[in-house]
Amino acid sequence: MNSQKYINLVIMIISLTITLLPFLTYSQDLIENPELDERVQQFLDEHRYQWRDLNIPASDGQLLYDLIVENGYTRALEIGTSTGHSATWIAWALSKTGGKLITIEIDEGRHREALGHFEEAGLTDYIDARLADAHELVPRLEGPFDFVFSDADKEWYTNYFKAVAPKLIVGGCYATHNVSAGGFGRGGRGMGGQNVGYYNYVTGLPNFESTLDTRGSGMLISFKKSNE
Ligand SMILES: C[S@@+](CC[C@H](N)C(=O)[O-])C[C@H]1O[C@@H](n2cnc3c(N)ncnc32)[C@H](O)[C@@H]1O
Repeated sequence: MNSQKYINLVIMIISLTITLLPFLTYSQDLIENPELDERVQQFLDEHRYQWRDLNIPASDGQLLYDLIVENGYTRALEIGTSTGHSATWIAWALSKTGGKLITIEIDEGRHREALGHFEEAGLTDYIDARLADAHELVPRLEGPFDFVFSDADKEWYTNYFKAVAPKLIVGGCYATHNVSAGGFGRGGRGMGGQNVGYYNYVTGLPNFESTLDTRGSGMLISFKKSNE
């Protein structure tokens, strides 16, 4: 084989490895449960156009799912359950990593509806749904957590972050919904003015690396790099 052919072969092998690597790690150590997958998928399909309680769009649900599965997270916290759309995606991912979700909702009607949805989707074993005021409960939660989804009252975002960040492990991820670089994104219109500081606060932290995913309603994804 001449040297050019050899170089081409090496390049091809490297490209193939880079392309396949995420899929290889993705499937590694994941718990397989095709029956549950089918049940959750059916639930999501049937309810696709029925989420009307400030729920995230399916694209953001897929984003949360991917973050958990790709990083193998197992100890998740959600602030703001509503009727359980995002929690369904999170818990589905946790069913594959062997994890569990604590999710908090203050509104009793929504909390009850969420419980019904978790039952219907077959995900109750993966969810500890609390009916509580997150202002009071979040600072009291022990942790540690490796994944957090913050999606409740926007004016409290910074307080939630400050309460949970010390309980997030290094390598963990803190995702915040409805964020844009100039305030809150599409889903949070009308509430943005009072919280423009949140994005600046989190992105200014030296021990977090943040990116803003704007494909859905604006998701600020912050990975904890170190404790200090
Ligand atoms: C944007 S919705 C959450 C949507 C949900 N994550 C989903 O995608 O299905 C925000 C929820 O936070 C709840 N909430 C607001 N303030 C809260 C508080 N202090 N404690 C707990 N929940 C709160 C609201 O009642 C509302 O249902």
